[in-house]
Amino acid sequence: RLPEPFRTPLPVPRVARPVSSTGGVDRYEIVQRVADREILPGMRTQVWGYDGQFPGPTIVGRSGREARVTVDNELPVPTSTHLHGGVTPPDSDGYPTDIVTPKGWRHQHADAGTGHGGIHMPTDAWRTSVRAKEYVYPLDQHAATLWYHDHRMDFSAPQVWRGLAGFFLVRDDTEQALPLPERERDIPLMICDRAFEEDGSFRYPSLDPSLKGEPGVEEPYMEGVMGDVTLVNGAPWPELEVDAARYRFRMLNASNARRYRLRLEPGGPLIQIASDVGLLARPEELGTVTLAPAERAEVVIDFSRWRPGTAVTLVNTLAGGGMGNVMRFRVTRKARDASRVPDRLADVESLSRARVAATRQFDFRLTAPSGSGSGHAWTINGHPFSTNRYLATPRLGTVERWRFTSDFHHPVHLHLAHFQVEARNGRPPAAHEHGWKDTVDVRPYETVDVLARFAGYRGRYMFHCHNLEHEDMAMMANFRVT
Ligand code: C2O
Ligand code: CU
Repeated sequence: RLPEPFRTPLPVPRVARPVSSTGGVDRYEIVQRVADREILPGMRTQVWGYDGQFPGPTIVGRSGREARVTVDNELPVPTSTHLHGGVTPPDSDGYPTDIVTPKGWRHQHADAGTGHGGIHMPTDAWRTSVRAKEYVYPLDQHAATLWYHDHRMDFSAPQVWRGLAGFFLVRDDTEQALPLPERERDIPLMICDRAFEEDGSFRYPSLDPSLKGEPGVEEPYMEGVMGDVTLVNGAPWPELEVDAARYRFRMLNASNARRYRLRLEPGGPLIQIASDVGLLARPEELGTVTLAPAERAEVVIDFSRWRPGTAVTLVNTLAGGGMGNVMRFRVTRKARDASRVPDRLADVESLSRARVAATRQFDFRLTAPSGSGSGHAWTINGHPFSTNRYLATPRLGTVERWRFTSDFHHPVHLHLAHFQVEARNGRPPAAHEHGWKDTVDVRPYETVDVLARFAGYRGRYMFHCHNLEHEDMAMMANFRVT
């Protein structure tokens, strides 16, 4: 029994308050814990949430001002928290084996020196904080819609599915000086799909649902787990009452594996103003916006084009039936609106004229890795993940062309480095892929070139497929910034 669409009001995650803001640093404390929430009307769902919430509290940081977030782990299993899109020092980047364990945690499978599928993991790969860890985010980066989520080795997919994801917005003066819609007309939308058991609990096909033993999903879910309920900010197919005015929506695809091609029914423009990690140079008026897992798009919708009383549905044209719906807006009344979308949003330096220090190619593919003895695995250049193998060593401050090829849908994400899509199968990218990004949707048998700038910090970082099941099945690799 699936819930009726458009009955639940859209929740907006609360904004986290810093516990202190002295010495030029905003400090936050967040507790990962188990909580019962009402997601489906009249049912209880146990979530694993930051502060017990799903989505977690929204952190609002300022460009150039350090934020420190202490994450306290009261869950029964280890976690690692990654700020997705953050330009973050390596030891705060949420590396999968850099874990925060519950008190008294003993590795069960990991002690044996193996990761998923019998892949060798050196036992010294683990760096463990007990109970809590302080993550340092210098935020030397432009205004953008970032998000934070779990990144535990082998278990990111089921742990994000249970609720470990939240928004982290970076604001800056240039962005705030723009006359864009603001305050209650600036709303983050975390879009994801989930499935539920009869009793209201999340349904996920883990081999070991305790998430303490063997990792992985049941064989038929190798390609990724999808649900039959669409959640926006944790509510099923919600409805938002809007004024007949402009709104800014920060849309994030937080699904494990599902892609969305979003459009308004009965039509109308989505004016995109930002991609993953920052404002576009100019707004793009689009009919549809496609989001692969982890991608973001900020769009302005002007509801004054409809009469009060009109219902406007946000639909996903890549899905049929109930999953073709995402949420609904109901235009309630005429209202004052001083906002507008200026023709110029930001100075976006184009990397196409930058000197390219190196060109590297990465093939994302299901293969039988040599010596794994485990049949097929999701690999990058034939390698499943290993903590001590490096597939690239870019130099700090340089720009490189990274060419991605694939056999399937693989949303490719780079930690640390922001990039621009240069070409898709040799042609310029679509309008919704302009600007600075950290994730690119690589579709089956495509070749996608990105120009990435390795700025910020030296050290070990990773890049990987952001289909979370592929990620858990070792489709990750290291690069080292030297
Ligand atoms: Cu959003 Cu390494 O991930
Ligand atoms: Cu993939």
